[in-house]
Amino acid sequence: MLRIALTGCVIIASFLTAATPSVAADNSPDVVYVPTPNDVVAKMLQMAKVKKTDLVYDLGCGDGRIVVTAARKFGAKGVGFDINPQRLKESNENIKKYNVGKLVKVENKNIFDLDLSKASVITLYLLPKLNVRLIPQIEKMKPGSRIVSHNYDMEGIKPTETVQFKSREDNITHTIYLWTVPLERETSE
Ligand SMILES: C[S@@+](CC[C@H](N)C(=O)[O-])C[C@H]1O[C@@H](n2cnc3c(N)ncnc32)[C@H](O)[C@@H]1O
Repeated sequence: MLRIALTGCVIIASFLTAATPSVAADNSPDVVYVPTPNDVVAKMLQMAKVKKTDLVYDLGCGDGRIVVTAARKFGAKGVGFDINPQRLKESNENIKKYNVGKLVKVENKNIFDLDLSKASVITLYLLPKLNVRLIPQIEKMKPGSRIVSHNYDMEGIKPTETVQFKSREDNITHTIYLWTVPLERETSE
């Protein structure tokens, strides 16, 4: 089911990115909403070694599950960014439901306009092209900052770790990529 949804996500998003090569002028999302299964979220945060002193940014936060989980499991601060008001509403409901308002907030901002330098962990579930477009922003982050991406790589950048994780929620094997700042370029050999 999710595989079908994700395939649809890629097709629709490819259309969107093809139709809007840069940031959408009307501020519409660059990729449709598909939530990361909760056990994949937990694995992503574990791979990024999230701890209490981290500031986690989820770029395109959906219902806020990643930043909410980082606060609940590890006591980390988090900010989720999205440009879909419905997603921000759902995020705020989850922040309230899990009582993490002291640690987590969400903001209505386009991810390509963000200064990422204060964050120590970035989480992504976007598309390969969008990950690549984020490289100039990621390169301004502090050394030792970690980036984790669900399913999609960042062409030209060597991952610190790649894990295949089978979710018990959807029975699908998900790829999770971890990169560490400073980013390491792949060599062409
Ligand atoms: C595939 S969903 C991932 C949601 C969440 N991170 C997760 O893993 O469960 C991508 C999200 O990115 C948001 N989004 C897409 N383009 C965006 C942009 N340019 N700026 C901010 N949010 C964006 C969408 O609204 C959607 O909620």
